[in-house]
Parts: sequence; C-alpha cells; structure tokens
Amino acid sequence: PETGCLSIIVLGASGDLAKKKTFPALYNLYRRGFLPSNEVYIFGYARTKISDDDLRNRIRGYFGEDASEHSEDVSKFLQLIKYVSGSYDTEDGFRLLDKEISEHEVSKNSAEGSSRRLFYLALPPSVYPPVCRMIRKCCMNRSDLGGWTRIVIEKPFGKDLESAEKLSAQIGELFEEPQLYRIDHYLGKELVQNLLVLRFANRFFLPLWNRDNIDNVQIVFREDFGTEGRGGYFDEYGIIRDIIQNHLLQVLCLVAMEKPVSLKPEHIRDEKVKVLQSVLPIKDEEVVLGQYEGYRDDPTVPDHSNTPTFATVVLRIHNERWEGVPFILKAGKALNSRKAEIRVQFKDVPGQKQGRNEFVIRLQPSEAMYMKLTVKQPGLEMSTVQSELDLSYKQRYQGVAIPEAYERLILDTIRGDQQHFVRRDELKAAWEIFTPLLHRIDDGEMKPLQYQPGSRGPVKADELLAKAGYVQTHGYIWIPPTL
Ligand code: BG6
Repeated sequence: PETGCLSIIVLGASGDLAKKKTFPALYNLYRRGFLPSNEVYIFGYARTKISDDDLRNRIRGYFGEDASEHSEDVSKFLQLIKYVSGSYDTEDGFRLLDKEISEHEVSKNSAEGSSRRLFYLALPPSVYPPVCRMIRKCCMNRSDLGGWTRIVIEKPFGKDLESAEKLSAQIGELFEEPQLYRIDHYLGKELVQNLLVLRFANRFFLPLWNRDNIDNVQIVFREDFGTEGRGGYFDEYGIIRDIIQNHLLQVLCLVAMEKPVSLKPEHIRDEKVKVLQSVLPIKDEEVVLGQYEGYRDDPTVPDHSNTPTFATVVLRIHNERWEGVPFILKAGKALNSRKAEIRVQFKDVPGQKQGRNEFVIRLQPSEAMYMKLTVKQPGLEMSTVQSELDLSYKQRYQGVAIPEAYERLILDTIRGDQQHFVRRDELKAAWEIFTPLLHRIDDGEMKPLQYQPGSRGPVKADELLAKAGYVQTHGYIWIPPTL
C-alpha cells in the first residue's frame, strides 16, 4: 500500500552523504509535495550524541542559499526530523529507534493506515551487515494493516567479485531482493532516464543502432578537480571502482541492451544483465591508466599509491548487435573540464571526407543532445561543413527544473519501483567484468601513467581511442546555445 504513515530513517545522519545528498533531496521532495507532513516523519540516526535541534541546524547549514529564500518551508521540513543516537551494532539504539518510529506511527495512524519504513543507509559498507541485522531484529514494520520495510544502500558494494558476493549474501539472508534498493545515482539523471525512450521510440535510431552503422561508442566522465578531502576513501577504490564499474557501466547497459519485453523493472533488468554477461574479458592493451601528479601529496594517500585516478578501458560486447564495436569507457579526476557524455560515432559515408556523423548525449552539465551532420556551407559556394541538430534542454525546456538524481531515486524507493536500481545478479555481472583487471592493478602488475592536473589525461589514452577507431574531426566544435 502506498498510503499510511511513512517513516524515513537516515542512518549515518551526520555524515557527508546525508548532508550533501540525502537531506537536500528529501527537502526538495517535501517542497514539491511528495512527502506530505500528515504522513511522513524523518529520523536521523548516528553515533554522535547531539540534540534534534543540533541536527536540524547542521542540515539547514547545508541548504545554503535555498534556506534563506524559502526559510518557512525549510523550517517546516526541519520540524519533521527527529534525531536518535546509538551504535551500529548493538540492540539498544535500534530498540530506541523502533520505539520512536512506532510512537510516531501511532500518532499519525489514529484513523487507519499501514506502516512504511524506509531505511536509508548513508554509511560505509563495512557496517551494512550489522546495521541490516539490527534493523531486521528490532525495527521491522509490524503493522497488521500492511506496509513494508525497505533498505536503500549505495556503492561501494564490495571491492571485487568475491567481497561483493559475500556482502550480497550477508544482506540477502536478512532481506528479500524486492526490499533492497541499490542506488547508482547515474540512473537518476534526466538524460540517462531518457535513453530507452530515445532508442526505442524513434525511427531515427531503431534501424541504425547496431554494428552495421555504428563504429564506436564512448562513455566519458571527466572532473576538473581531484580527490580533495576524500583521498583516504578514494585510494582504497580508485577510478574504476568509483566511476567505471558502476556509473559508466550502467549507462553502457542502457545504450547497448536489447528492447525489453515490457517496461516492468524485472524485464528491463533482465536485458541489462544479458548485456553485461556478453562483455568479453578486458585486454591489457585496451586499458590506459593514469594518476595525476600531486595525488600522493594528500596526507591520507600512501606515498607509493598505485591507485588510478584516470582510466580508459575498451569493452567489447560479443553479440549479434555489437560484435566488433568498441565501447570506450573513460573516467578521470583532475582533468581540464567537467562533463559526462555518451558519444556514438557512426561509420564513414563512402566518399565523404568532411567528418563522421555523431550522436552526442550530454548528461551534465547543461543537459543536451546533438547530432553532428554534414551540410552545405550556406552561401554561394558549394562546399560542405559539419553542423548539428541541437536539443539543448535549457533552451528547449525553459523554466523546467530538472530534478536531482537522488530526488527521483528516493521517490522510486517510496513508490516501490526498482527499475532504476541495481539487481543482485547485475552487480555480480558488473564485478565479473572488472575483477581480473582490478586485481592486476592492486597487485602492482599494471601501473598508472602520471599526468598533469588540468590536462586531458595521459596521451596514451588518446592513442588508444584512435586505435579503437574513434576519428576526431578537427576544427568542429559544438557551441551550446546561450539564452
Ligand atoms: C560519486 C563518486 O559516485 O560520483 C565521486 O564517488 C564523483 O567520486 C561523483 O565525484 C560524481 O557524481 P556527479 O553526479 O557529480 O557526476
């Protein structure tokens, strides 16, 4: 049932993720009317001993500008939050939490209604198993009128196939798959959510989306800042586990998968798993790793760290649609720009030298998609030039606010829609692809090349791109329209 009392419990309430993402997303949902105050209550749980007001003030501090502009809304929202402190592996805290949730349910459910309990684990994965055990033991929904208990968790789900499977098994003993929501926030981005519509609702793409027409696909993530403040976490994981194995691979699934039987979450996820299972083992010569100069100066990073902050990896999908088409996944920190995009490059047109057709989906910043094509240069002369058909969201959808990924995804967890969450077998297949490579890096058998912060990354990465078949058009540059 989607009515009745809803308790949202943010565990790790005083941590970074909660402050930066979870609470702001909850606030926005509240402001848009998705969290009605006669149904919803929010609990923060963490070890620190602070008061309700301390937590509220901390959260307010994170809202920045927004807080003063909508100060009345913010205050009302903050009043929905209660803080409970306790440890992550003993029963007392969770019993207290359960008591608080139940009291609130009684007060809101005076007439009728079920109990819905959403536990958001904004915590390091090492404590997922004890926390899940405690929730299972002390905090499950017990209402006779129905309802549910759901758990939201976020990567890193393990460090390799073995550790991920172990974590999945531990959590799987406590909760059923339909209760588990593994967030990959890239699946909440507007243009990622658009991919299936684009591909399967347009004649433009249906017949062309295959090895006969497409030469190569790039999925790129670039950040123009380093690991500031997160060096300790990052060094244990590296760019492949932080970005490529999850965010970029999820995007690849949506670009490459077959049409699902229906739009039901299980049908979509079945197709994603199939694509992942069709990926061939990664070849060493199709990988370039980088580490930016200065990365090891961070006091939390070991002096001899071998952790890549940049990687280009070519994946090959062994199926009828994609045989021979390289999918080039590229991610890097401390580069010369910040953007994420999908770039589909088509094959040459015989006799046409101007440049190849490309279809680019810019995920961020400034959402857009554009098609690069060859046209006659306007004017008296008969010459050709590359131009584009441009759908820039800011211009085309003026005044439409694009929701944050976390907002959508949290709303999905409340509605019980698992379409945009990673299923257990999907996670396993994703780890299977990258684990051999990750082990070779961890063992020091593959070393990252140094690159200058603020550069394009190692030159070798561009060489690999060219070897994989990508042809850059010199002189062409897409200029996003300004309003
Ligand atoms: C996170 C990574 O998952 O995604 C970060 O851990 C990265 O390293 C972030 O900065 C990027 O997210 P977005 O939405 O800003 O592209």
